[in-house]
Amino acid sequence: MIKYLDLLKVNALYDAEIRQAVADVLDSGWYLKGEATHRFEQHYAEYIGTRHCIGVANGLDALTLILRAYIEMGVMQEGDEVIVPANTYIASILAITDNRLVPVLVEPSLDTLQIDDTLIEQAITPRTRAVMIVHLYGRCAYTDRIGDICHRHGLKLIEDNAQAHGCWCDAVLPHRFAALELQHVRTGALGDAAGHSFYPGKNLGALGDAGAVTTDDDELADVIRALGNYGSHQKYVHDYLGRNSRIDELQAAILDVKLRHLDADNQRRKEIAARYERDIVNEIVTCCIATRETASRSQRNGLSLNRDCVYHIFPVFSPRRDELQQYLADNGVETQIHYPIPPHQQKCYKEWSTLELPVTEQIHAQELSIPCHQAMTDDEVTCIIDLLNAFK
Ligand SMILES: Cc1ncc(COP(=O)(O)O)c(C=O)c1O
Repeated sequence: MIKYLDLLKVNALYDAEIRQAVADVLDSGWYLKGEATHRFEQHYAEYIGTRHCIGVANGLDALTLILRAYIEMGVMQEGDEVIVPANTYIASILAITDNRLVPVLVEPSLDTLQIDDTLIEQAITPRTRAVMIVHLYGRCAYTDRIGDICHRHGLKLIEDNAQAHGCWCDAVLPHRFAALELQHVRTGALGDAAGHSFYPGKNLGALGDAGAVTTDDDELADVIRALGNYGSHQKYVHDYLGRNSRIDELQAAILDVKLRHLDADNQRRKEIAARYERDIVNEIVTCCIATRETASRSQRNGLSLNRDCVYHIFPVFSPRRDELQQYLADNGVETQIHYPIPPHQQKCYKEWSTLELPVTEQIHAQELSIPCHQAMTDDEVTCIIDLLNAFK
């Protein structure tokens, strides 16, 4: 059986270092808000390229607290709108509705699988305060048009970077820098603030729940730090109706170990993805991320806008998706669907049940995620390619 994601094998790659990190925390006698957290926050901020990294309990909290902080800062208020892709994991949208803000769902482009940047401007109303982009499947969703729209309309650009640790983009960032120069920037540093999830299955995964916010905004960082600490900057003094949302020392120490391997791990994912893209040839199974990758390389003002993909998920598409999934399972390959039901058709958002979002619905109906992670062997990759090519 080839598992979709074999976390035992993945974490075995760093076994000795993780055990040492856990032992160090145990021996320190300090389990929250200590040195390990401080060290990881510093290293992750340096890696992403932002001034601040604030460790929180999970990725949903990271996104929720960014929006909550903007409300506390008076940048947003209840009922304001946040533009978000319609084809995302529910957490991106929960973060918005948790804050009594209104998600405005925008269709993705079939070329990029990311929010269709040509549809954003028409979704803006006087109540729009932010655009949340989601680097879905590990692929950078930023475009210069998105940066330009946020800049011209004075909107916050928030990144959901749960699936794209280590991804980068060569881009002009008009909403952030006056100089229109091409910058080589990691996702998580492209917008005003970013939420990261370190759920165990992510490219940078903890051994439990953990998350972080990265930002260059000093005030935002300060408010988020307080919000995650019962609304308090100073012990027993509470400025906000906060919550308890923090990363613990064990997870921080483990993440610090795995961060050192992230680029190499992503490189291995890219090698596997390159083989899939080159060798899967079957008209019933579209492995379209290849053409999509090429399509993302555009030329503007002589600048090459180059967007990376770290293949958190390797999606293939088939009109016979369910049959394909069963066929692979019968032949010993476990797969997943990201995601079977789009957010607007979920019971928890009954008010959207009449919405028609055909592109989103098509992606959700045809997507199948095949195994793609750093602990896979070449033989496993070959086996999956052969099976996909033999599907009739
Ligand atoms: C796109 C996206 N956003 C947000 C989250 C939420 O992260 P967490 O599970 O850490 O709350 C996830 C992952 O679960 C995700 O894939």
